[in-house]
Amino acid sequence: MKLLAFAASNNSHYINRILANYAASAIPVAKIDTLDIHDYEMPIFSDEREKQLGQPEKARRFYQKITDADALIISFAEHNGTYTAAYKNLFDWTSRINSRVFQNKPMLLLSTSPGLGGASSVLATAVKSAPYFAGDVVASLSVPRFFDNFDLKRNQMINTDFETELSNAVKLLTNRIN
Ligand SMILES: Cc1cc2nc3c(=O)[nH]c(=O)nc-3n(C[C@H](O)[C@H](O)[C@H](O)COP(=O)(O)O)c2cc1C
Repeated sequence: MKLLAFAASNNSHYINRILANYAASAIPVAKIDTLDIHDYEMPIFSDEREKQLGQPEKARRFYQKITDADALIISFAEHNGTYTAAYKNLFDWTSRINSRVFQNKPMLLLSTSPGLGGASSVLATAVKSAPYFAGDVVASLSVPRFFDNFDLKRNQMINTDFETELSNAVKLLTNRIN
């Protein structure tokens, strides 16, 4: 059983990566794979660039990572109410390989931010649109005020309500893949 967990963020500090990995570590699977979308940076998608570049190797590698996984955990950073440009660009290129980007994989979608909103706007967008890209969203959770609710030193969620919600979400994904 292979789980792919990553952050839809190219910020070097990466609180969404911490959250994705934290959730993944609670799932008893054979192997946890991850990726850094820094490694998948490409020119901004346009029809003209697609004519020049075809299907870039980085987009094919990202698509293959999803193919190789039995389930996905993605934690979304929010920039101005929506996806980070880095993730959206990677997604656009990948959708040209196959619009069924998520390949029917069961997914847990998360989001967090330092503020009160918890990146809930981008999470709502991601959850709503996932079925159009063959994404099977089993559960989702936004964690606001990350630095108040998560202890970085202990790598532990300290807000008991969010810990319970995350644990329930993780259970739903675990049940789906076992
Ligand atoms: C250009 C920009 C726009 C942002 N817009 C939002 C926003 O709309 N909502 C939000 O919750 N946080 C916003 N933030 C703050 C991010 O949530 C914060 O940078 C967070 O650390 C990003 O997650 P990451 O560390 O996983 O990359 C924004 C940050 C930047 C730099």
